[in-house]
Amino acid sequence: MTERMIEVRGLGKLFTLHNQGGVRLPVLHAVDFDAARGECVVLAGPSGTGKSTLLRCLYGNYLATEGSIRLRDPAGAGEAWVELSSAPEQRILQLRRDVVGYVSQFLRAIPRVSALDVVAEPALARGVPQEAARERAAALLARLNLPGRLWSLPPATFSGGEQQRVNIARGFIGGHPILLLDEPTASLDADNRAVVVELMRETLAEGRCLVGIFHDEAVRDAVATRLLPLRPATGETMVPAAAAAARPA
Ligand SMILES: Nc1ncnc2c1ncn2[C@@H]1O[C@H](COP(=O)(O)OP(=O)(O)OP(=O)(O)O)[C@@H](O)[C@H]1O
Ligand SMILES: [Mg+2]
Repeated sequence: MTERMIEVRGLGKLFTLHNQGGVRLPVLHAVDFDAARGECVVLAGPSGTGKSTLLRCLYGNYLATEGSIRLRDPAGAGEAWVELSSAPEQRILQLRRDVVGYVSQFLRAIPRVSALDVVAEPALARGVPQEAARERAAALLARLNLPGRLWSLPPATFSGGEQQRVNIARGFIGGHPILLLDEPTASLDADNRAVVVELMRETLAEGRCLVGIFHDEAVRDAVATRLLPLRPATGETMVPAAAAAARPA
């Protein structure tokens, strides 16, 4: 179970704020790590150090400014290792369907789609027949204690914790070999936090790979196999000469 799934080398991310006169904000610098099947790498560091940014880079959402991020595609028809910075959009979408799942901090609610179908969708996309996908979705929602009366309703009006549980079920249903988790337990009560810890442990036992951010120390201790500390970027915010000149003294 030690097959590597993620390889990150010399990763740097710098944001250029075009609507702020091109101010450049360095966030990640020289990040190196690997993650293998059965491992849970926990991103650690103070607020603003780029933990969520790193997850977005791994999901192909943000393009790295320097360095390399490679993911293994175990079942892919093409190359086994995919370099995200040069992968075409279609390949990124295929990786998100088959290889890498992402539980964002907040659910992006889709209007008029029921909670059950929001959860079932990633399984459908991977070819699970509709009935089986809906059964799997129902089982996850039941485990996460989402009241049955909510299953047929769109999650837009759900409470924060209810939306988060829909989001978690949607992340876990696809069975992706790599799963990225951005504070999945932040607005959950103790019982539901315990369910999420169980889900993560099962995922690891199945030989999948997790990269997560958990502020809750008990959750972190229950699942982390390794911590990856991120340091605050040392580089100063860089203001292009033209923008600096345009600033009032
Ligand atoms: N799309 C973006 N455009 C510009 N700056 C961004 C963008 N996304 C993130 N940043 C900046 O990158 C820095 C790191 O943000 P990030 O959300 O990754 O931090 P974090 O470690 O997840 O913090 P927290 O623990 O508070 O969630 C912040 O200063 C943020 O303003
Ligand atoms: Mg964050």
